[in-house]
Amino acid sequence: MTELRIPFNRASLLGHELDFVANAVATGHISGDGPFTQRAEQLLEQELGVARALLTTSCTHALELSALLLDVGPGDEVVVPSFTFVSGANAFALRGADVVFADVRPDTLNLDEQRLDELVGERTRAIVPTHYAGVGCELDAICATAERVGAVVVEDNAHGLFGRYRGRPLGTFGALAVQSFHETKNVTCGEGGAILLNDVSLVDRAEIIREKGTNRKRFFRGQVDKYTWVSLGSSYVQSDLLAAFLCAQLEARERIQDARAHVWRRYADSLAAWAAANGAALPFVPAHCDQSFHMFYVLLPSLDARTRLIAHLRGRGILAVFHYLPLHLSEMGRALGGREGQAPVTEDVANRLVRLPFFTGMTEVEQAEVIEAVHEFAT
Ligand SMILES: Cc1ncc(COP(=O)(O)O)c(C=O)c1O
Repeated sequence: MTELRIPFNRASLLGHELDFVANAVATGHISGDGPFTQRAEQLLEQELGVARALLTTSCTHALELSALLLDVGPGDEVVVPSFTFVSGANAFALRGADVVFADVRPDTLNLDEQRLDELVGERTRAIVPTHYAGVGCELDAICATAERVGAVVVEDNAHGLFGRYRGRPLGTFGALAVQSFHETKNVTCGEGGAILLNDVSLVDRAEIIREKGTNRKRFFRGQVDKYTWVSLGSSYVQSDLLAAFLCAQLEARERIQDARAHVWRRYADSLAAWAAANGAALPFVPAHCDQSFHMFYVLLPSLDARTRLIAHLRGRGILAVFHYLPLHLSEMGRALGGREGQAPVTEDVANRLVRLPFFTGMTEVEQAEVIEAVHEFAT
């Protein structure tokens, strides 16, 4: 097999990560909720304008925390796009809720807000839109539908940190939003996440659930004289070692975003003519959305063309990958009632999408090689 020279993703160090981690070790606070956690949470709160940000061990855990916080349970329905990461559905299924799979729009691959009305009703407790590739969903329509049926919007903003919809940061529209700091994300600490709370009435309980169901945070603030078990909860607090790494990345956010914007635009400019000649489509970003430059994908005309392009790039030592498989057609999705034809756009695009190597530290030379290899390919 050809040696892999250009990975799909490579974690990038921005400069201060190791100093900050060493600092956490030196100060002796390496468990959670230390100085670096506070610094990262404040930065997110100020930069995005959210009432409260709490770091978590992952985005998956932030979604589980959301499900516990909303007290979702049997008899409730939660609407999730079928074209998303499994945790958006799993977190609510874990609480016994029914997952309702929604289809996505063919242009942005985001939850199709125009077909949302057919999926919501009295039992809908939450709608969980994913801002795919960091391009905002149609939040005006989604929030209006949620309000009409009394459901809560939980934005899965794993891809969308620092993206905007009509000028307002993604993550600030739903009562809740979740972030991921997994290695593949723009800002990372290896594994990590956050829950953003825009509804202040949820802050107290969120702190309790995140701390194993105890009121330990209130105890540390001197608000109670001992801490005890007060509700269901789990261990969602992130270590300050990881928060230190994360702080260094968050503080370098402008450099990260500039570098990624440069890579994204170069792909878009260099591949436009090739895409037109080969019946392929490049990402669509509506004029009212400022994207987060999370990924670059190509929609090939067929599954066969996608398979051949991935193999062609692999033959040149370049790793390109496909993305989500339709959740409603997965083994678990089918067990929950998913069936063929239920989300035709998802079923179609999942077969045709390929993500090109895309990471903050990608060099001009690496990207030129990928572009050249794509140009050599004809569908
Ligand atoms: C849209 C989306 N939501 C949630 C997650 C889960 O993130 P984590 O790995 O931080 O749990 C991912 C992971 O890639 C994702 O793409």
